[in-house]
Amino acid sequence: MRRIRTYTEGLDQVLDGGIPQGSVVLLVGAPGTMKTSLAYSILHGNAIRDGKGLYVSLEQGRESLVHHVQSMGFDPAETKQTLSILDLATLRKKMGDGGSWMELFRMYTQSIRTGFSYDLLVLDSLDALEVLAQFQDYRGEAFELFKWLRGLGCTSLVLGEMPPSRARAQPESWGRHREDYLADGIIFLTMEKRGDFEVQRRLRVVKMRGVRHDTAWHALVFDNGFRVTEILS
Ligand SMILES: Nc1ncnc2c1ncn2[C@@H]1O[C@H](COP(=O)(O)OP(=O)(O)OP(=O)(O)O)[C@@H](O)[C@H]1O
Ligand SMILES: [Mg+2]
Repeated sequence: MRRIRTYTEGLDQVLDGGIPQGSVVLLVGAPGTMKTSLAYSILHGNAIRDGKGLYVSLEQGRESLVHHVQSMGFDPAETKQTLSILDLATLRKKMGDGGSWMELFRMYTQSIRTGFSYDLLVLDSLDALEVLAQFQDYRGEAFELFKWLRGLGCTSLVLGEMPPSRARAQPESWGRHREDYLADGIIFLTMEKRGDFEVQRRLRVVKMRGVRHDTAWHALVFDNGFRVTEILS
């Protein structure tokens, strides 16, 4: 099975080569754990090698996202032809006089694919879509969304938050947000207190269907790009 590389130092080894093409992968963590940054970095890494990607940003406006990634050293100008950003304001304009958010999201994401055949899709975030689309039956709507994403034929990274009370808990015990059984993969990000003053960013691949991945916790370091390394005691 073809793998989508993350082009993140250390992460492709943890994933035994990358994310199986066509997977729907949850990238989850508490606020500030760098979900947006890591997802963009994966898209950017593919885009500079001609792998087309679409970033659907429902939390941050396009300008704010571009500013953020530029501050981290990614240059969107380099990926003009291969990385496209769709934000909430753009979707709102398409909304016209009503209709359903979920329909609009699907329709627009799908229609972009006819002119711009992206291989990688980032949805930032599932929580924002849940609020916009006013999910009545969370499990049912999430199930339909994941099924639809899988049918789209590209590889998807779906970003999600967790309330602080759950942020430290293991995904196995999340309760209501049981997207875990729907997703082909789960990458979990946390910030752990180290000593009195330090906080260390961590990453764990909880699951990745069809891959003999490493399940251990790793450190997630950002300096001129992301790096996933062993945790040194
Ligand atoms: N230029 C930078 N270099 C390194 N780290 C940065 C830089 N800019 C921001 N950060 C760190 O990244 C964090 C935000 O990252 P990001 O927005 O990717 O997180 P997130 O998990 O998507 O957050 P949210 O829950 O708000 O969506 C900031 O809180 C800060 O700690
Ligand atoms: Mg974010």
